[in-house]
Amino acid sequence: MALGTGSWYRRRALLQAGLRAGMTVVDVGVGTGLVACEAAAIVGDPTCVIGVDPSPGMVANAKVPSGVRLMTGSAEHLPMPSATVDFVSMGFALRHVEDLATAFGEFYRVLKPGGRLCVLEITRPQAGWARAMLKMYLRRVVPWMAARLASHRDTPELMRYYYDTIEACVAPEAVMAALTLAGFAGVVRNVELGIFSAYGAQKPAH
Ligand SMILES: C[S@@+](CC[C@H](N)C(=O)[O-])C[C@H]1O[C@@H](n2cnc3c(N)ncnc32)[C@H](O)[C@@H]1O
Repeated sequence: MALGTGSWYRRRALLQAGLRAGMTVVDVGVGTGLVACEAAAIVGDPTCVIGVDPSPGMVANAKVPSGVRLMTGSAEHLPMPSATVDFVSMGFALRHVEDLATAFGEFYRVLKPGGRLCVLEITRPQAGWARAMLKMYLRRVVPWMAARLASHRDTPELMRYYYDTIEACVAPEAVMAALTLAGFAGVVRNVELGIFSAYGAQKPAH
C-alpha cells in the first residue's frame, strides 16, 4: 500500500545521500522506525542512531533495533548539542513541519561540518491525471483495504487524511530553496515516478 516506499527505497536513498558505516545519525520524525532501521543497518552499529519524534506514543511504539536511542523532540527543536552528528535523515515527516527555515536551521546546527542529510517526502504530482490517480488510490483504495485488514477502526480515516497531507505539501522548489538558505551546499532532489522526492545536501566542511 506504500507505493514502493518500503525499506529498500529508504535504504537506497540513505546510501545515495552519503550514509556510510560508522557514521552517527539522527532520524527526525522516526515514527514507526523504518528509516532508523535502515540507517542502523548501514552504519553497522545501532548505538550510532538516535530517533527523534514529537509524539511520545510514536516513540513508545517505534520498532527499532536494540541500541537505537529514542528521544522526544521535533525538527524545530532537536534534543542534541550542536555539531555532534554526521548525518540527519527524515522520512515522510516534512509535511508536518510548519517552519522549514527553523527545521533546516536545526539540521544544520546538529550536523558536524561536512555532515550530510537525506529528506524523503512524497511530492504532489504535477500532471492532473497523476494527481487524480494518486488521490483515488490513497483516498479510496487504501482506506477500503485498511477497513478490511487493519486492526484499529480509525485506520481508514487516517489513510484518507494521508492524501490531504500530500495535497498540502510544500513545493519541491521551496524545500530546496529553504535548504540553501539554511546554509547547505550541493542541494539535490532525486525524484521518482513524479511522486517520491529524496532531497540530499551537505553542510560545508569549512
Ligand atoms: C509518516 S511518519 C514517519 C515515519 C518514518 N520516518 C518512516 O519513514 O517510516 C511521520 C512522523 O512525523 C512525526 N512528526 C510530526 N510533526 C513533526 C515535527 N514537527 N518534527 C518531527 N517529526 C514530526 C509524527 O509524529 C510521525 O511519527
